[in-house]
Amino acid sequence: MKLKTKDLLTLNELSKNELIAIIDNSIKLKKDLKRGICKPLLKNKTLAMIFQKPSTRTRVSFEAGMYQLGGHALNLTADELQLRRGETIQDTSKTLSRYVNAIMARVYLHEEIEILAKNSSVPVINGLSDSFHPCQTLADLMTIKEKKKKLNGLKLAWVGDGNNVCNSMIYGCAKTSIDISIATPKGYEPNQKVINESKKSVQVELLNDPIAAVKDADVVATDTFVSIHHQTTDRAKDFLPRFQVSASLMKKANPNAIFMHCLPAKRGQEVTSEVMDGPQSVVWDEAENRLHAQKALLVAMLQV
Ligand code: CP
Ligand code: NVA
Repeated sequence: MKLKTKDLLTLNELSKNELIAIIDNSIKLKKDLKRGICKPLLKNKTLAMIFQKPSTRTRVSFEAGMYQLGGHALNLTADELQLRRGETIQDTSKTLSRYVNAIMARVYLHEEIEILAKNSSVPVINGLSDSFHPCQTLADLMTIKEKKKKLNGLKLAWVGDGNNVCNSMIYGCAKTSIDISIATPKGYEPNQKVINESKKSVQVELLNDPIAAVKDADVVATDTFVSIHHQTTDRAKDFLPRFQVSASLMKKANPNAIFMHCLPAKRGQEVTSEVMDGPQSVVWDEAENRLHAQKALLVAMLQV
């Protein structure tokens, strides 16, 4: 399958069928790897990875994934590039396009990844911007499909900050027919344009009550209250104690609901350790699935 889009910046670029195909191939690639099958589908391909911000999962999963597919990943912190000395994103993008087959970048402003994509002749993947985190959503949907054996017709509750991870998750839910209820404190809602577009496909409920949001939920998801790009670190006071995913909140969801978190987590803030380490938590499979989902994405984007 060849994707219609050159770049993946928000997740909305993928059609429903493309997204489902990537998720299904992620699950296949994972099974293959566990059986020792690892085809060099991206032999001689190079991925440049630019990081303006720290990363554990994104960096390591992309690098390991490219290696497993027979390709190569270059880790470039923005500080080591001439970007630090004022070379423009446009010129950096045009130059890198001449050397590599794809660029993955973690940036502050979403406009920066848009400029990178516009000026690149090779595919650009958003490895997290202040507004979106599409690779996380791919892994999350893959994890939900593995655990629930389906996507269509489920209900996901998002509790906490309506942030970058939440925005891509809303698009992901809309494309896979998962209803989503989002509980945030007032003023912390996700992107209104994303909500309006997604409401055409599924139920998107915006609430200020976590208990109401998790009612009948098959999946309960959250993320840190303080993202890397936030200037203030005292945001937690606006969320606590009501917006913490605790064992008592999980009890209000479906009895077989799973708990998800993109990580890194701030234990004791958005989630208790009891939930993170509890039987409903799938966070380690979710983290592992970044590897498989991104391999499927890279194959869909780069295999000729
Ligand atoms: N979830 C995620 O993107 O983790 P990193 O910040 O460690 O890459
Ligand atoms: N919302 C978090 C996600 C980190 C993976 C952040 O932007 O820092």
